[in-house]
Amino acid sequence: MKKKLFCLVLAAAVGMSLFAGCVDSEAAPEPTTTPAPAADGGNGGGESQDTLAVAAGKKVGVSMPTKDLQRWNQDGANMEEQLKAAGYEVDLQFASNDVATQVSQIETMINNGCDVLVIAAIEGDSLGTVLDLAKEKNIPVIAYDRLLMNSDAVSYYATFDNYMVGTKQGEYIRDRLDLDNAAGPFNLEITAGDPGDNNALFFYDGAMDVLRPYIESGKLVVKSGQIEFEKVATDKWDSANAQNRMDNIISAYYSDGTNIDACLCSNDSTALGVATSLGSNYKGTYPIITGQDCDIVNVKNMLEGKQSMSIFKDTRTLAGKVVEMVNAILSGSEPPINDTETYNNGVITVPSYLCEPVFADADNYKEILIDSGYYTEDQLA
Ligand code: BGC
Repeated sequence: MKKKLFCLVLAAAVGMSLFAGCVDSEAAPEPTTTPAPAADGGNGGGESQDTLAVAAGKKVGVSMPTKDLQRWNQDGANMEEQLKAAGYEVDLQFASNDVATQVSQIETMINNGCDVLVIAAIEGDSLGTVLDLAKEKNIPVIAYDRLLMNSDAVSYYATFDNYMVGTKQGEYIRDRLDLDNAAGPFNLEITAGDPGDNNALFFYDGAMDVLRPYIESGKLVVKSGQIEFEKVATDKWDSANAQNRMDNIISAYYSDGTNIDACLCSNDSTALGVATSLGSNYKGTYPIITGQDCDIVNVKNMLEGKQSMSIFKDTRTLAGKVVEMVNAILSGSEPPINDTETYNNGVITVPSYLCEPVFADADNYKEILIDSGYYTEDQLA
C-alpha cells in the first residue's frame, strides 16, 4: 500500500500532465515539456548532469505494437518524453499490429545506429532474427511490457506483475459475488487475451487460480463450457473478436433471459467487445465485467455502469523504470531488477522489473486516475 501511494504521489509530484489533451484513442498524445521523474525516485531516468552525460549522443529505438489501443500511444509518448528529458535521441515507431512492419522498423533502428532497443512485441515469438541482429551488433534489448520469447538476445524485461493483474480481476469477481458465503450458483463467462502475447496466459492464470476452485465446486457455472485458455483466447486482443464470440455464447446459452452474473475479461479491449455484445443481444441482468488498462472509453463505461472495474497500470511508472534501465546499461551500472525467476522466455530467464498494478472502479477512480494527474475530469466527461 505504502509503495502504491508512493508511486502515485511521485507520479503526481513530477507533474505529468502528459495526457491533458488525450481523448482520441487512435491518436498519439502530443508530447509536452513535462520534466522526467528524478533519477533516484524509482520512477524514471532523471536529468542529472551524470545522466545527461551518459545520454549524450546516444540513440534509443522504441518499438510499439500499435496505435489502435490507447495504452500503447501513452506508453510510446511517455517513453519518448522521458528519454528525451534524460538527454537521449529517440526513434519511436508503431507497427500497426503487423509483425513484418515491426521487424522492418527494428531493422531500420539497428541500421541507423541505435544504442539500446526497447520493444513491446506484437507477437513475442516472431522477432528472433532481428533480435539476433541486435545481439550481433551488441545492442542491448529491453522487452517492454510483453516478454520477447525464445531468444537469448533479451537483456532485461520491464513490465507490471502480470499474474497479479489476473489475481486482482479474479478476486474482484469473488468478492463482488461473495462466493465464499452466497448460495449461488452464479454464471460466469471468460474472455482472455491474445495467445501470441505471453502476458495473456499470466493474466488468465492469475484470475483462474482464484476462480477455478469455485468452478470445480459448482458455485460458478460456465454454461458455454469454454474454460480452457485456448477456448477463451481473443486473437490480437481485438474487440470485434471478443464481441463475436460473446454474441455466439449469448445466443446459444442465454437467449432465454438467463442471467450471466460475471464476465471475466482480461483487458479493456476485450471488455469493450463483451459490453457491446451484452448491450445488443442480452436480456438478463447486467453482469460484473472486469478489465485492464483504464482506457478512457472503458473508464467512461465504468462510470455508466457498463464495466465494473479495470486494472490501472501507470504507464508513466513503467516508462520511468525503462529509462532507469537504459541509463544503467549505458553507464555500466546495475539496472533495477526485482524478479529473476518468473520470466523464462523458453531460452533464458530474463531479469525483470515488475511494477505493481492497482485496481480502479467507479468508487476510487478520482483518487487513482485524476488526483495522480493521469487524466483530467474533462477527459472522462
Ligand atoms: C498488455 C495489456 C494490454 C494488452 C492488449 C498486453 O500485453 O499488458 O495492458 O491490454 O496487451 O494491448
